[in-house]
Amino acid sequence: MAGMISVDSQLTFHIRNSHYSYAMQLLDGRFLAHLYWGPPLVRIDPETIFTPRRAPYLTAIPLGSDVGEGSAEGFGRPCVGAPRTGAASPATEALRQEDAIAAPEAERRGAFSLDLLPQEYPAWGTGEQREGAFRVLFADGTEAARLEYLEHETVEGPREPELMGLIRGDHDLGTVETLRIRLGDPRGELTVDLFYLVAEESAVLLRWARFSNSGGEPLTIRDPASSSVDLPPGAYDLVRLGGAWGRERHLLRTPLAFGRHAVGSRGGATGHQSTPFLAVCEPGAGETKGTVYAVSLGYSGNFQAVCDVDQYDVPRLSIGINRLRGHLEPGESLETPVALLVQSEAGFGAVSNTFHEFARSGVIASRWREEPRKVIINSWEAMYFQVNEKNVTALAKEGRAIGAELLVLDDGWFSGRRDDTTSLGDWWPNEARFPRGLRPVAEAVRREGLEFGIWMEPEMVSPASELYKAHPDWALQIAGRENTLARSQLILDLSNREVREHLFSTVSGLLEESGATYVKWDMNRNMSEVGSLAHPAHRQGEVMHRYMLGLYELLGRLTEAFPEVLFEGCAGGGGRFDFGMMRFSPRFWTSDQSDAVERLEIQYGTTMLFPPETIGSHVSSVPNHQVGRTTPAETRVLTALPFSYGFELDPRKEPESDREIFRSGALRYRELRDRFFGARFSRLLGPLAGSAECRRIEGGGGGETAWMLVAERELFVFYYRPLVRANYEPRRLRLPGLRDGAVYRDRETGLRYDGALLRSRGLMVEPSLGDYQARFWHLELQEGEVT
Ligand code: DGJ
Repeated sequence: MAGMISVDSQLTFHIRNSHYSYAMQLLDGRFLAHLYWGPPLVRIDPETIFTPRRAPYLTAIPLGSDVGEGSAEGFGRPCVGAPRTGAASPATEALRQEDAIAAPEAERRGAFSLDLLPQEYPAWGTGEQREGAFRVLFADGTEAARLEYLEHETVEGPREPELMGLIRGDHDLGTVETLRIRLGDPRGELTVDLFYLVAEESAVLLRWARFSNSGGEPLTIRDPASSSVDLPPGAYDLVRLGGAWGRERHLLRTPLAFGRHAVGSRGGATGHQSTPFLAVCEPGAGETKGTVYAVSLGYSGNFQAVCDVDQYDVPRLSIGINRLRGHLEPGESLETPVALLVQSEAGFGAVSNTFHEFARSGVIASRWREEPRKVIINSWEAMYFQVNEKNVTALAKEGRAIGAELLVLDDGWFSGRRDDTTSLGDWWPNEARFPRGLRPVAEAVRREGLEFGIWMEPEMVSPASELYKAHPDWALQIAGRENTLARSQLILDLSNREVREHLFSTVSGLLEESGATYVKWDMNRNMSEVGSLAHPAHRQGEVMHRYMLGLYELLGRLTEAFPEVLFEGCAGGGGRFDFGMMRFSPRFWTSDQSDAVERLEIQYGTTMLFPPETIGSHVSSVPNHQVGRTTPAETRVLTALPFSYGFELDPRKEPESDREIFRSGALRYRELRDRFFGARFSRLLGPLAGSAECRRIEGGGGGETAWMLVAERELFVFYYRPLVRANYEPRRLRLPGLRDGAVYRDRETGLRYDGALLRSRGLMVEPSLGDYQARFWHLELQEGEVT
């Protein structure tokens, strides 16, 4: 589908594919107004879309022709094809008339206020009362800016450079087109290019911005948003993913009220506490119905997602980088990360599947798109720091017996590491534990029939390490300020090329030596005293961002040099699970929380953005190490089964009967994973609310949770009930999207179900006694059509 971007002579911009339309219009030849984001429109008629608003006492901007010299022409670059007031669009005219009635100061000439305008990329300093999409500090010490139209261009394909790696030509999204609209401040010192990338096969619209210093003095840009959209006024709910270590990505929903609502991170990673995601939905929206607008970010460092509701009930939804103070010398530019925008009239299920499909066809490297995820046995909860050649070889043998295909040697294998207080940075095998080095243990694991993987935390350094002794200047630090430790460690300065070179050769050397095909790339602390000895004072505000660019560069080099190695993303569990890291990590360690009940809520929220095969989920021992709960083996298996399955236990310590359940779980996963991979995921029932004021999207009771995967002609339904309740109506799980006339057969019982019945009444869950129960159905289409 070519021609997805059209621009008419009035400079109305229309971006359209079969999933959505996104439109903007130039007002008064200068101001880029947001017109529309929603289901695809055949044509954009601004007068049928734009809602002019009136309000007294506003800061008014005189219309173009009345001011004559000095406004848009001040650039020395005339606006291309821009209508002046004489040819004002009906919407501009309506604004002028409304304001003439309402605002006495505007009466004389007719004017309009940017405070009333749904601005496409708002600046501060024009009378706009809400937070702008960025902050600028000019060399004269002032901050007011105004962005006016300069030019635009449309290109086929992704626009160079960078795009922060998302869509680097390695995608299956069909034809791709990019629109660039250049805006500039009338003083000529600042130019902002807005980018819009539309792909034929995706309902995701990508947006980002590039700031350029087009003047003769340095300037500073703070926290530029990648996207800012003014939504239609109205009553909405706000949905976000909040959390903590061991409780990542809990879904929270609250009514959206006036004011500024923000989630974000400041510690140099996306974080356990929040995920780059914010959604605004109709109060009645659910999993299968209702209008939802959602944004995410292809970035793994500090972010902020904001919904600012103004005095007219207009929510401004923005997302971008946080805590960045970018210094631009004349001629220099700064590009933001990429925002992912998804809207739907069909509820959160559709939004999630759009994100999932985009991850699969546009983010995850093509090498891993079709590759089934191996069943993993990880040494962490099995042995913690007590690993050695003998017990790791035994773990491989026993792991194989329960269906594992790849062993990950976790923390504790290197230099003097006995606990978490020392040795990060000294990436050579501990002589007492692995006296013959890593190769013999890796080979022993391979002889047992498993692939060998290794844990590393390359971004870190322990003060008690040889590396720190040799290079104390390689840690992030501020001269004269004491560094705060977390887990007894410091962070290496990845904004320093020398450090990155060292890490590249260290990690490469280990991979070559051990033949590992899997790296668990961990990162266990946030940044505190942020400073780099490698950069001058005026670059210190960029260190966290430069760190992230350095990390991406390093991971880019490693994944290119070792294309067969899967790099798992981990940050104290799921503290850096995002679309930025997903370019390098097709699988994440979702959480250090391995309890089946706690996992329900974590996995439920995680599927809002990320496809199941990226969500690492391991069966662990009981009583669970994080919460002390004892759940049945079958429930632990079914909680992990539809995700990326593995083990976090020592099989030698497990009862024989449970080992058999683990093994049949692994074999079932190995049989079904091809179908889980790429399946359409539906959340059917939500788990317990994290706090009293939260409302779920679709509520369950007693922690009931259910989801379904639909793959071609098969349905996989999972139901979990942590707490049994007395004397209650048996639960029926309504399965969305099934067609009339379809008939499904239960593979286990042989029962035949009418698709329309499953959709309208639901699949019945037989009542049973006991807590922590789980059920699984595998249904095959017998007659009729798939969903
Ligand atoms: C944090 C990770 O999330 C754990 O799985 C484990 O690898 C530890 N780090 C090791 O220190």
